[in-house]
Amino acid sequence: MEATEHLRQEHRVILSVLGAFERYLAQVEGGGAQDHHSLSRFMMFFREYGDLFHHEKEESVLLPAMVDAGVNWEGDMLKHTRREHRHERNLMRDLWYASCQRAPWSAPGVKELSALAREFIDFQRHHLEKEETLLFPAAEAMLDEKTKTKIVEGFQDFERVRSEHDRGQGWLESLRQLAADLESEFCQEQA
Ligand SMILES: [Fe+2]
Ligand SMILES: [Fe+2]
Repeated sequence: MEATEHLRQEHRVILSVLGAFERYLAQVEGGGAQDHHSLSRFMMFFREYGDLFHHEKEESVLLPAMVDAGVNWEGDMLKHTRREHRHERNLMRDLWYASCQRAPWSAPGVKELSALAREFIDFQRHHLEKEETLLFPAAEAMLDEKTKTKIVEGFQDFERVRSEHDRGQGWLESLRQLAADLESEFCQEQA
């Protein structure tokens, strides 16, 4: 399996939750029940799985391997990837604040939330697509087999350290379960 195949599989999980998030958003925009709790659950998923797991894996394992193969850390390609991760973090932070609000969202508040959430969804989809069409093919072309094996081991180490030391046992499993729950709650409901 190509080293980047692990990352592509994680993209599939993120994309499915983005689809569920879009359904959730349509309910809020349509004047449905103001479900702040579900917004927190979506943000928990995007923060923990999308950012602390997936993006950090890219930044701490894949990008350094590309630097070792001669790509400039400060060059356009890697800088652009890191800049997009930062931008997504900022959008998530603002959405998280909206989910923490106790009072119901006002009509302008719903409009603001909708604009922010739609920007986040579009930005995230474009980011994943750019990685799959530009960054990953570039990495696959430049890295030798030995390095690709090292990257896969690096991913496994990253997951182990995150689960055993930083976030606790069961972290990834609970995030995968959260993704499945959100998808079934918001996608199957309207199918
Ligand atoms: Fe990324
Ligand atoms: Fe990615």
